[in-house]
Amino acid sequence: MSLKTPPGMAVSPAAVEAPETGFVFAAAAFAALGGLLFGYDTGVISGALIFIRAQFGLSTFQQELAVSVVLIGAAVGALSGGRLADVFGRRFMLLITALIFVMGALVCAAAPSLNILVIGRLIVGLGIGFSTSTVPIYISEVSPPQTRGWQVSLFQLAITIGILAAYVVDYVFSGSSGWRWMLGLAFVPGAILGLGMIRMPESPRWLAKHGHPDLARHVLARIRGTESIESEWLEIQKTLAEAEERGRFSDLFSPSIRMALVIGIGLAIFQQVTGINTVIYYAPLIVQSAGISTASGAILATAGIGLVNVIMTIVAMWLIDHVGRRPLLLIGIAGMILSLGVLGLVFRMPTGGALAWLAVITLMVYVASFAISLGPMFWLLIAEIYPLRVRGIAEGSAAGVNWAFNFLVSITFLTLVEVLGPSLTFWVYALLAIVSWLFSYYLVPETKGRTLEEIEHSFRRRHAA
Ligand code: BGC
Repeated sequence: MSLKTPPGMAVSPAAVEAPETGFVFAAAAFAALGGLLFGYDTGVISGALIFIRAQFGLSTFQQELAVSVVLIGAAVGALSGGRLADVFGRRFMLLITALIFVMGALVCAAAPSLNILVIGRLIVGLGIGFSTSTVPIYISEVSPPQTRGWQVSLFQLAITIGILAAYVVDYVFSGSSGWRWMLGLAFVPGAILGLGMIRMPESPRWLAKHGHPDLARHVLARIRGTESIESEWLEIQKTLAEAEERGRFSDLFSPSIRMALVIGIGLAIFQQVTGINTVIYYAPLIVQSAGISTASGAILATAGIGLVNVIMTIVAMWLIDHVGRRPLLLIGIAGMILSLGVLGLVFRMPTGGALAWLAVITLMVYVASFAISLGPMFWLLIAEIYPLRVRGIAEGSAAGVNWAFNFLVSITFLTLVEVLGPSLTFWVYALLAIVSWLFSYYLVPETKGRTLEEIEHSFRRRHAA
């Protein structure tokens, strides 16, 4: 096997030697642990905060800092991580990501002061950002077209499981004020991600792009579990020949890529401004203000919402490669519009009693609708629609914008509720959901069953200047 390694770029033997069939699934599952950490680390702080506040005597601003510094780290990590994944490879970045998660968890768990805790949370945020800019791409590049949809959606599934696990861990350790355990437990999936990725291969598409054709073929044959890889290999070659140059930020604005960029950034914004994280981060508060006053009732309702998120993501994964991306996206967003509309109505009525439970059920319908549409579809589409030469930068940019809007929506929600009231606030999200439905209807392409190279070609044909 001839290895043509560019200067400064070592490719370890473990990067290609791997078990045979079933192995794409293992690669996808290990990489998806990055999603689990994303969900866990963003979800866990809500329960930990009460105890951290008591221990360090935090002011409101200091609490906001401990929570939101993760989102800032994630935005920076996503924006830079995509570029790094293009230069150093997807697998290398996933290994670095695992290391960062492990370090972040340890620093947070051992933090003797607020300053160290904030540094730990910043490190964790960086890891989350790196994972969002690398995991979906890695999985999409190793998966066969027929199952790419559900395999990339493993990332979203892992996010939802991480959020649910965070709710449960917070609940378990709340009796003993164990905030260090809550934050430190992220060490475990971080370590598994790192150990797992050591044995996983580099993406064959990245290898082909970086001057390792033999290695790339070898990996492709191994992960497909067959030597008949000719048609896929030819397509990869053809796409590479057409776009030899190295991707730069300015390439993102070339006519054929611009449309994909608009779609990716648009979905990044709509995934957040339709309000999902007001529910994920503030569910107990919303439920309580709808009239469920007991703490156990609020916890139960919140856990129920987390569970619905997981289950409906599994349903989406089951449908995504059969029904296609567009129908699920459009049906799901329609469900979000409806449930947000109803939620607004519920908050117009006197709260409490049966109406409180109607609010909970409506929240569940809303989360279920998100889980079959904007949830998995955003991460999947941004891993599918960009050409190989700029895939990392472009995906990372979309992920970075997603984090920035996540931050924006999360910090404005409570103020919006104060100023507009809950009804109008949910109607504002409903209005934005209508815009996102129209955006998806007119602009989002169907990518089901096509190879990444076919998707790239069709964008180039339709949108070249
Ligand atoms: C979003 C997160 C959200 C999660 C909820 C993800 O796709 O990017 O912001 O918290 O879904 O399941």
